[in-house]
Amino acid sequence: MRSIVMLTCVFAFQTLFGQQCQSPNKQTEVIFSLSNDGKPTYEIIYKGQVVIAKSNMGFELVDALPLLKNFSVLNTRFDTKNETWEPVWGEESSIRNHYNEMLVALQQKNTQRKMNIRFRVYDEGVGFRYEFPVQDQLGHFIIAQERTAFAMTGDHTAHWIPGDYDTQEYDYTTSRLSEIQSLFDTALTGNASQEQFSKTGVQTALMLKTDSGLYINLHEAALIDYPAMHLNLDPKTLSFESWLTPDAVGNLAYMVAPHNTPWRTVIVSDDARDILASRMTYNLNDPCVIEDTSWIKPMKYMGVWWEMITGKSSWSYTNDVSAVKLGQTDFSKLTPNQTHAANNTNVKRYIDFAAQHGFDGLLVEGWNEGWEDWFGHSKDYVFDFVTPYPDFDVNTLNAYAKSKGVELIMHHETSSSVRNYERHMDKAYQFMKDNGYSAVKSGYVGDIIPRGEHHYSQFIVNHYNYAVQKAADYQIMINAHEAVRPTGIARTYPNLIANESARGTEFQAFGGSKPNHTTILPFTRLIGGPMDYTPGVFEMDISKLNPNNNSHVNTTLANQLGLYVIMYSPLQMAADLPEHYERFMDAFQFIKDVGIDWEKSVYLEAEPGEYITVARKEKGSSNWFVGNSNGFNKRKAEINCSFLDADKTYTATIYRDHPSANYKTNPQAYVIEAKTVTSKSVLKITTVPAGGFGISIVPKN
Ligand code: NOJ
Ligand code: CA
Repeated sequence: MRSIVMLTCVFAFQTLFGQQCQSPNKQTEVIFSLSNDGKPTYEIIYKGQVVIAKSNMGFELVDALPLLKNFSVLNTRFDTKNETWEPVWGEESSIRNHYNEMLVALQQKNTQRKMNIRFRVYDEGVGFRYEFPVQDQLGHFIIAQERTAFAMTGDHTAHWIPGDYDTQEYDYTTSRLSEIQSLFDTALTGNASQEQFSKTGVQTALMLKTDSGLYINLHEAALIDYPAMHLNLDPKTLSFESWLTPDAVGNLAYMVAPHNTPWRTVIVSDDARDILASRMTYNLNDPCVIEDTSWIKPMKYMGVWWEMITGKSSWSYTNDVSAVKLGQTDFSKLTPNQTHAANNTNVKRYIDFAAQHGFDGLLVEGWNEGWEDWFGHSKDYVFDFVTPYPDFDVNTLNAYAKSKGVELIMHHETSSSVRNYERHMDKAYQFMKDNGYSAVKSGYVGDIIPRGEHHYSQFIVNHYNYAVQKAADYQIMINAHEAVRPTGIARTYPNLIANESARGTEFQAFGGSKPNHTTILPFTRLIGGPMDYTPGVFEMDISKLNPNNNSHVNTTLANQLGLYVIMYSPLQMAADLPEHYERFMDAFQFIKDVGIDWEKSVYLEAEPGEYITVARKEKGSSNWFVGNSNGFNKRKAEINCSFLDADKTYTATIYRDHPSANYKTNPQAYVIEAKTVTSKSVLKITTVPAGGFGISIVPKN
């Protein structure tokens, strides 16, 4: 009935303003219209305010007329959906997918080519995509430029990272749109990066705030068989335009009808917390295609890892690189490197610690041949993913771990040689199954092979998706680093349990990250899916691990605890070394206790770049966990405990900054205190700059 009413109003508006579609609660709407010369345009309104001003849509093609103008509307169809689905893991156990849809079928008058635009309007935003139906006039074609504009209505504040075809591992810059160009070179600092396309180009998910207090998030959903989209700003008009990652010969996307682009997404609210609570990006992806998902399990893990990242230890077994001929060298005859971390004794030490403290997994990097001369080898043949170094006994270590209730996590550094990886993939995954591994961290460091391809081009995007699908055939979970940033495809393939694809904790050991970094990431990188951020560093002075590394972790210890709640991931690491945790066992207790899979999440306080406070109820338990990360300024957080059950009394254990804590000079000053709380309690907790807190709330009795 409601949809009939809606359809009537839609058609009433059609002749005057173009086609319009409103969200279920009517606060968000999209208006589609054709200009006088038949250019498709759209506009987005939220609570009466223009979010995206009238913006053009369409494509330039290689060796064919553009799909930009001369269109007429063949027909417009409306639909509506209101369903709930249960994710395998997530921030809540059930997700509502509620939208109104408008499908505009277009035909270009001079060429008869057909192009449809599908809009889905949610209460908290709009997704739209281009669809190319089967037709005689348009079969195979190559996109030379996607010209989807996102016209801003003012000089908004943006949290942005530079448009780069190969990495997202940047600190965020917060500035006005008009300042992006002049701040661009500074924004690149600290990341000797790969290739930028323009000095006004930024990556998505892009988080914006208008002067009237609207929060706008621009990203994409369901990036499948298409290049990743960046946004290029016209500094004069303050309009963004889509900028797709090119392939090695400069083409953008190879299309064969029927084919769709990913969804272009605009999430909007006058309350920043709604951006974090939005599940629009997942909802725009297809439902899960894996029938039996019983093998997909959230994991809390440790790693033989931080000691390499800090430079204390090495990945490589030997420094004797001149002696190595790949596949022909007997490594046991080479001089071992004294700092090789993935050795039997050290791995057992970590297994013991992880088992003692209830962890599910232990990642071991540097276990396999190839690290010794990564850049010297032909990158077509650098790693085979099945040959361990002589001091890493795959059978014994896996059996030892299993006997203690811990599982080893595989590591596949591909060195970005994706063809090499694809050639070895079946054997590599089979090797994992044969030896009892069920999860792999993969990585794509360095320039992509085939040469000239980029980390975010269509071919390489297809590779990441291929790896995830292939892994599903073997019932393997994937955590891919340096891959394209996620776009909600974990709804379809929940074995993609995490990605890095942003500046993670490792950068705290590569010179440090901005103190407010984690108050931005949930608004940007995490919009598309969980991040393997690898929190939990307790020793902030990296020179204590490696005298040649003067990096400093720019947070307090209490902030590191808060990250387990605010940086959602079904894969959570305790990144630091056992000997560091042993010095702070009372604080480590929070990492041991904190949940990793959630019944529900309540976003208590949020302002991008300033602070985030989130409460989450653990799945299958009555325990709640609250986390906070704080930005540059000292602040008092207010936690209204009304999310708790009204009939219960709880013990809240609060792990917070000591008043004397200072992220630079006194980061390990924290206070742990227990309080009795009920749903009527309001907790007030002061955090220092780059500080934070974690709270576990457990029912009494
Ligand atoms: C970069 C990844 O982010 C890091 O976690 C990994 O240890 C190295 N590459 C080596 O693969
Ligand atoms: Ca990385």
